Amino acid sequence: MGDICDGFLSSGLKPDSVISVSDWADANRILSQTASSEPGRFRKSRTPYLKDIMDALSPSSSYEKVVFMKGSQIGGTEAGNNWVGYMIDQAPGPMLVVQPTVEMGKRWSKGRLAPLIEDTLCLRDKVKDPRSRDSGNTVQSKEFPGGIVVITGANSAVGLRSMPVRYLFLDEVDAYRLTQILKVIL
Ligand SMILES: Nc1ncnc2c1ncn2[C@@H]1O[C@H](COP(=O)(O)OP(=O)(O)OP(=O)(O)O)[C@@H](O)[C@H]1O
Ligand SMILES: [Mg+2]
Repeated sequence: MGDICDGFLSSGLKPDSVISVSDWADANRILSQTASSEPGRFRKSRTPYLKDIMDALSPSSSYEKVVFMKGSQIGGTEAGNNWVGYMIDQAPGPMLVVQPTVEMGKRWSKGRLAPLIEDTLCLRDKVKDPRSRDSGNTVQSKEFPGGIVVITGANSAVGLRSMPVRYLFLDEVDAYRLTQILKVIL
């Protein structure tokens, strides 16, 4: 499948795409050397069990909540990363990404999200270089046409406040404290 990147100017106005998250990832995602144990093209055939989970995250899916109970290092975060990339390119809107702590959120942003943006051609132009003035791009917040990704930690009550979101990505939930989970969910 060739590139199915979306146009730049119209991305905030168009109806959401019917392309699935797994097809988008297959066509566009490159796993970077600095962020992946197996760098190179993302192939959904390498982790077939992630396909339905990723596709349930597509806007065309009728599921509103997806819970993934899993073993370690089987691609759970990568499936979520594909969802983030897809959302920026195909169905922009506000997204909150929550890691167990703010520090882990920053680590995910620098170690996983920044390489994802840098190495995916259709995202590179949408999320401006953090070094440029007024880029709207910091470690904890990435702006792009039609949306924003905000990254925080479940340990930050303040970070979880006052953010109306269309998408909520909760990663490594078993490391949240129970009171934190209640704050995020309620
Ligand atoms: N389809 C794929 N092809 C190649 N590499 C993949 C694929 N899916 C995931 N990986 C790689 O496998 C490694 C583990 O993935 P990831 O960190 O997403 O797992 P995880 O289940 O979230 O792990 P943990 O339980 O530690 O949080 C990463 O380096 C990731 O890039
Ligand atoms: Mg993970």
